[in-house]
Amino acid sequence: MSEHPLPLRLGVNIDHVATIRNARGGVFPDPVEAAKLSEQAGADGITAHLREDRRHISDKDIERLIEKLSVPLNFEMAPTSEMLEIALKHQPHAACLVPEKREERTTEGGLDVAGGFNHLKPIVDKLRNAGIRVSLFIEPDPVQMDAAVALGAPVIELHTGAYCDARQVERRQHLDRIISAAAHSAEVGLECHAGHGLTYDTVGAVAALPEVLELNIGHFLIGEAIFSGLESAIKRMRARMDTARAEAGTPKST
Ligand code: PXP
Repeated sequence: MSEHPLPLRLGVNIDHVATIRNARGGVFPDPVEAAKLSEQAGADGITAHLREDRRHISDKDIERLIEKLSVPLNFEMAPTSEMLEIALKHQPHAACLVPEKREERTTEGGLDVAGGFNHLKPIVDKLRNAGIRVSLFIEPDPVQMDAAVALGAPVIELHTGAYCDARQVERRQHLDRIISAAAHSAEVGLECHAGHGLTYDTVGAVAALPEVLELNIGHFLIGEAIFSGLESAIKRMRARMDTARAEAGTPKST
């Protein structure tokens, strides 16, 4: 493990501010205001998922985020022609391709890059040609990572949901898969990100991996904001990430 790991970025996902807003159908709370507050609290980027059914983030939110943000926007999108058109119109800094099913509560499982190669190829090419950094949200599986390389995607985001949901021995097994996948990403030249379901308790082990350069965290932070405020929740998460990273980079005394 490197003694000086590269800095770890925090992308704050503001989808669930929009979920609360949409519960009443009005304009409060405003996800763009949450994004600006996240920037002030130390977020390195903002992530937003425009779902096909528009259950949280709206087209107008994406337009306003592009206009108002000072940090990069990571636009999460299903690999559909509708979403491709929206991404090309708004030109976010990054686009993360995620699988999407209407009936799911959240993004369950990663994208099947190997199986969907022919469908994904033109979408990845068009995004890349437009100068948008493409990432693929995948399970920690070397087969999917090798397919990402073949597709020409520069970045993968490892799905940490199974690790976060599991307990004890099973959690350790899921973490081991993430550790191996992160190491594999470096071997095959992919930039490695991770996210989904991360909390104060689960973030440290992932933040400690030197190959992981970005974490995207949403649901837990927005939930914590109810109790401690968004700024405090982000700062606390950031501190946990930084501590785990620093400890991982400190040589152990013998
Ligand atoms: N990364 C991706 C690709 C996601 O789809 C999500 C959920 O929208 C997240 C990260 C953030 O997950 P969570 O809201 O559970 O922190």
